[in-house]
Amino acid sequence: MTTRSIAVLPGDGIGPEVTRAALRVLDAVAQQDGLAFEIAEYPMGGVAVHQHGDPFPAATREAVLKADAVLLGAVGDPSLDGAPRARKPETGLLALRAALGVYANLRPVAVHPALTAHSPLRPERLTGVDLVIFRELTGGLYYGEPRGNDGQAAVNTLRYTRAEVERIARLGFAAARGRRKKVLSVDKANVLETSQLWRATVIEVAREFPDVQLEHIYVDYAAMRLVSDPASIDILLTENMFGDILSDEAAVLVGSLGLLPSASLGAGAGLFEPIHGSAPTIAGQDVANPIGTILSVAMLLRHGLGLPAPAARIEAAVARALAGGARTRDIALPGETVLSTTGMTDCIVGLV
Ligand code: IPM
Ligand code: MN
Repeated sequence: MTTRSIAVLPGDGIGPEVTRAALRVLDAVAQQDGLAFEIAEYPMGGVAVHQHGDPFPAATREAVLKADAVLLGAVGDPSLDGAPRARKPETGLLALRAALGVYANLRPVAVHPALTAHSPLRPERLTGVDLVIFRELTGGLYYGEPRGNDGQAAVNTLRYTRAEVERIARLGFAAARGRRKKVLSVDKANVLETSQLWRATVIEVAREFPDVQLEHIYVDYAAMRLVSDPASIDILLTENMFGDILSDEAAVLVGSLGLLPSASLGAGAGLFEPIHGSAPTIAGQDVANPIGTILSVAMLLRHGLGLPAPAARIEAAVARALAGGARTRDIALPGETVLSTTGMTDCIVGLV
């Protein structure tokens, strides 16, 4: 039996409680399937700044580079809002993504039928929503140099190379092949040179996938399309900043940010994290929704460790829990019984 190593970075705010919950679910499937995992925790984000003066300490860097997969809770700490860039939790997250080379961020957004009443959108718009955002994660404005702010003027650099666009586009098209065979590529090619390169490169990559239908859309119209006709979208392929914005918008479709997982993939170990933040106002109260992190563990098993069967079992358990009426506070309608983080986790553990 191979033992796979998972580096766990609980991080800030609700990060520790949701990762603890997800590890309980992992433990349950591991026992049933006779799988062995070596799990160790390392500091990351605001906690790491407070303990070590660095949001991504050297020991954490070393550990994630050796691990087979990385599970992250959340980073973000309001007490560090005014800190210099090197001591911000978000800077650590960007450095972590760069260190792992995880250029492809996958954010699946599927509406669970039991939760259509939780979205501000009309239920008929939500029927059949099942899309995956493929967000480029290690390039663009987040990383471009020069950058800076002298108080009078500030600059960020938006730069993309053909190779950077090609590799994320290939992953998006390959994923479309196993799904509804549609790629919606989002850019701003009417204005930006980077987007013109993006579009030209995506068109070239599309030639390798003649069975996949490619459509281009400007980012402003994509923002409309996500709420006016989300069910028409299969793979949404886009650059770093546009993907950041559109993925929060897409989260509205499912009713709560707390439900959504993500996988960030590259050449080596993948990084798996819920898309919600550290939610400091509810941290430590056992009220956070653990499902985003539990589904991130499912993505870790499938995409990170090549174990699709236990991944599917976790996803099925979550679907059954929701269908059976299990609700944390963020997804409860007035009058519904509200479960704690622990209560929701107990319910899912009992169903795997
Ligand atoms: C996300 C987050 C991060 C991002 C922040 C915390 C740096 O918003 O993962 O979407 O902008 O990438
Ligand atoms: Mn974001």
